[in-house]
Amino acid sequence: MTVQYSELIQPERVHGSLYTDQDIFAEELQRIWYRTWVCVGHVSEVARPGDYVRKKVASQDVIMTRSKDGEVSLLLNRCAHRGNLVCEDQRGNSSTFRCPYHGWTYRNTGEMLGYPYNQGYGGKGKLSLNLGRVPRVDTYQGFVFASFAADGPSLKEHLGAAAGELDRLARLSPEGEIELTAGWLQHRAKANWKLLVENETDGYHPQFVHGSVFSVTGSHIGTLYSDKSAAVTRDLGGGHSENDLRPEFRKMEPMNWFGTSEARVPDYVAKMRALHGEQAEEILIEGAPHVMVFPNLFVAEISVFMINPVAVDETVQNVTAVQLKGAPEMNRRLLSQCIGSVGPAGMLLADDSEMYERNQRGVAARVPEWLDIRRGAHRERIDENGFRIGAANDETGMRGFWSHYRSLMEGKAR
Ligand code: FES
Ligand SMILES: [Fe+2]
Repeated sequence: MTVQYSELIQPERVHGSLYTDQDIFAEELQRIWYRTWVCVGHVSEVARPGDYVRKKVASQDVIMTRSKDGEVSLLLNRCAHRGNLVCEDQRGNSSTFRCPYHGWTYRNTGEMLGYPYNQGYGGKGKLSLNLGRVPRVDTYQGFVFASFAADGPSLKEHLGAAAGELDRLARLSPEGEIELTAGWLQHRAKANWKLLVENETDGYHPQFVHGSVFSVTGSHIGTLYSDKSAAVTRDLGGGHSENDLRPEFRKMEPMNWFGTSEARVPDYVAKMRALHGEQAEEILIEGAPHVMVFPNLFVAEISVFMINPVAVDETVQNVTAVQLKGAPEMNRRLLSQCIGSVGPAGMLLADDSEMYERNQRGVAARVPEWLDIRRGAHRERIDENGFRIGAANDETGMRGFWSHYRSLMEGKAR
C-alpha cells in the first residue's frame, strides 16, 4: 500500500493516521530521519581529543567522538565482527573502543586496530572491517548534525533561514559561542514525535496549558502569546519555524527577555557592551530565539531540546540548558531557570507532556479523523524578508512544517 500524502496533508488540516500508522512511521525513518540532517549534539560535549558521548538518531545508536587531530565523527555502535555494541558507557575519554564479545579493537575514528588470535584469520594482516560511520557530519555554531544520506542538500542549505536564529543564540555569548555542557535530561513521552514538534512553536496553547504556572510566578510570558501581542509566528521555510517575540521584547528593558534586569547580571552586561559597543543594547533587548529547526532541534530561548522518535507513539526528548561561553554569572541562572521549566519537576515541560500524551490518546479515536490547522490562515502576510508570518498564536509554523513534511514524504524534496 502506498500512502497518498496529498490526501492526508491538506493546507488547513492533517489526517489523524499520520500520528498512529506504523507504516507511515517506518517511512518517516527512511525519508526523514535517515536522510535529512538531524541534530545529534554539540561539539562542546566532546571538547578534548578522545572524548566520546553516545547519541541516538531514531533507533540508531551512534557514538560522537573527537579524534586526536580534532575531527568530530559519528560512529555506529556496532562491532564489525558479530554486531555487538562496542561502547557501553554513555560518555568517557578513550582513543579506542574494544568490543566486549571477542575483543576486536577500533580507533575512535572507526578504523579497525586488531583482534585476538589472528591465526584464525590466516595470520598477520588486518581485516578491512571497520565500524560504520554516519556518511555526512557537519556543524553549525557548534551544533553537530548527521545525515545518513551520502548526498543531498548541504547542512547550510538544509538550515536556510534557521541558521540566522542559531547565530542569534551564539551572539549572546561574550565569546560568540554557546556550550551544551550542563548535562542532558531525558524525557520519555507516549506520543508521536510530530506532536512534540508541533507544540514547540504553537503559540496558541501557553495561556491555557501554562496558565497556572504563569499566574503563580507572575510571569509575563502568557501575554506574549495573547491576542494583543505584537509578536509573530514565522514560517522560515524548510519545515523550520519560530515564535518571534522581539516585537514585544523591544518594548522592554535589556535582559527582560530573560525575566531579569541588568542590575542582576552586571558583569555579563558589561562584557557584552565592551564587545559589541552600541549594538549590545539591541542584542541584550532582543535576547534568544524560540525556533524549531526541522526535524528535531528546538531552541526555547534558554533551553535546547533534541527530539528522538522511538516508536509511532513514543518519543524521547533530550533537554539541556544553554550555557554562554565566557558568562559564568549568566550560566548559573540559565541552568536554574532551565531546571525549573523543563527539569524532572519542571513546570512547563510537565504541562506540555501531559498535552502530547492526551493528544496521542485522542487521535486514536476514529472520528472526526482530521486535526485542524487553519488558525490564522486568513490573516497571514509576507514580511519584509519574504517569510510568511501570522499572529503570535496562529498555526503558521505548523502549516510550514506540514508542507515541508509532505514534500519529503512524497520524495519531492530531500
Ligand atoms: S562481536 Fe565484537 S568482537 Fe565479536
Ligand atoms: Fe508549552
